[in-house]
Amino acid sequence: MDKINVLFVSSELAPIIKVGGLADVAGALPKCLLDFINIQVVIPKYKIIPTPQPATIPGSDVKINYIDIPEYFSSRDNVYGYPDDPIRFAMFSQKVVQDIKDEKFGRVDIVHINDYHTSLIPILLKDIGLNNVKTMLTIHNLGPAYQGRYSLEILDALKLQKYHSTIEIDKSDNQINLLLQGVLNANIVSTVSSTYAKEILTKEYGGEIEDFMELRKSNLYGILNGIDYSIYDPDKDDKIYSKYNISNYKMGKLENKKRLIDELHLKFSTDAPLFAFISRLDYQKGIDILIKAMETLENKNANFIILGTGAKDFEDQLQILGTKDPSLFADITFDITLAEKIYAGADALIIPSRYEPSGLTQMIAMKYGTLPIVRSTGGLKDSVEGLVSGFTFEEYSPLSLVNTLKEALSMFNTPKWDEMIQTAMNEDFSWGRSAEKYVALYQQLVSNL
Ligand code: GLC
Repeated sequence: MDKINVLFVSSELAPIIKVGGLADVAGALPKCLLDFINIQVVIPKYKIIPTPQPATIPGSDVKINYIDIPEYFSSRDNVYGYPDDPIRFAMFSQKVVQDIKDEKFGRVDIVHINDYHTSLIPILLKDIGLNNVKTMLTIHNLGPAYQGRYSLEILDALKLQKYHSTIEIDKSDNQINLLLQGVLNANIVSTVSSTYAKEILTKEYGGEIEDFMELRKSNLYGILNGIDYSIYDPDKDDKIYSKYNISNYKMGKLENKKRLIDELHLKFSTDAPLFAFISRLDYQKGIDILIKAMETLENKNANFIILGTGAKDFEDQLQILGTKDPSLFADITFDITLAEKIYAGADALIIPSRYEPSGLTQMIAMKYGTLPIVRSTGGLKDSVEGLVSGFTFEEYSPLSLVNTLKEALSMFNTPKWDEMIQTAMNEDFSWGRSAEKYVALYQQLVSNL
């Protein structure tokens, strides 16, 4: 059988252009898929992409195609954050479809799209008469803020040629929801963990479009993301103070912890664990319950490090808390080197997300022998086992988090803690496993011609 030809379309791709977790997926998954299929990727040509642009994903033969529409991309300083973002990405999607028609990418059997930015592609393919090209949408975040809702003006910009019933359905609230168009029109919809695939059918997680998700239930899949162990490995990581692996992690982690604590002017004590939080400071990530939990935990024999930027409100609260509490170091920056040092030096990483489609940091933490303390939701639930490879709690509340932190405090430095570190470090979240599952879906798609 001929190899399947997949065009992977994304609004970000690490290490070339990264805003969030989508970039990590786009930069890693296609590299692994190349072992099984023909794949190339397409991203917008943003102004901040340095020239000459890399022709392939670094370290691989996966070709990167760049599409510019100067008015929307190369003339703008940022990747996102403009009021007309949905229009920008709708126009990008239209250009991708035109280029498929003009055979600029050679033969394309499947277009694999990601999040709202590229979600119009299935309908645009139909509109232009490319009915044989199959589509798969991967949802990385279904939160209402990530759906690309826009006024009907977007239809004027698109100048669709045909009548599409999904546009009629969508229009009734005087808005077009780009992600919803992808959900309704893609041949297959997937998301980035099995648990999130189930959660998004419910009111709590369905981002107000759960009824439509329900319609696609028989074609909805969940595949957990992986991590790139060529980047995240404490034995090869030049950014950390001292390298280590599973056979010498005790010494290695202690050395990293001492130097980190020293650099951040916290107080070292052998029996005090170092808890960390590395994330955007926003609603999704549970920073609100973490701040309340830190305020509640009295006489704590522990240090906390918070790293990340985000909502001003949370940044301010953390800065105030940091000045009052000598055991808290809050760094309101996006500092990749410090992040790696924290993965290596911390004892536990707190991830109290309200929802988490997949999550990446728990997998990195485990590789670095740092126990994840997670709310059991989405990909966190699928990757961390309570009291086996980390700590878990169910209810989204400061109290559940406080209780779990207390549980962790009581177990710190016991043989059980060590056993958990070893289990965590031995977990395998490599992309190869996920890639095989994507290939199975691609095969299913092309065989249903
Ligand atoms: C989004 C999700 C995160 C996921 C990432 C990549 O950022 O919030 O959970 O890991 O996409 O799929």
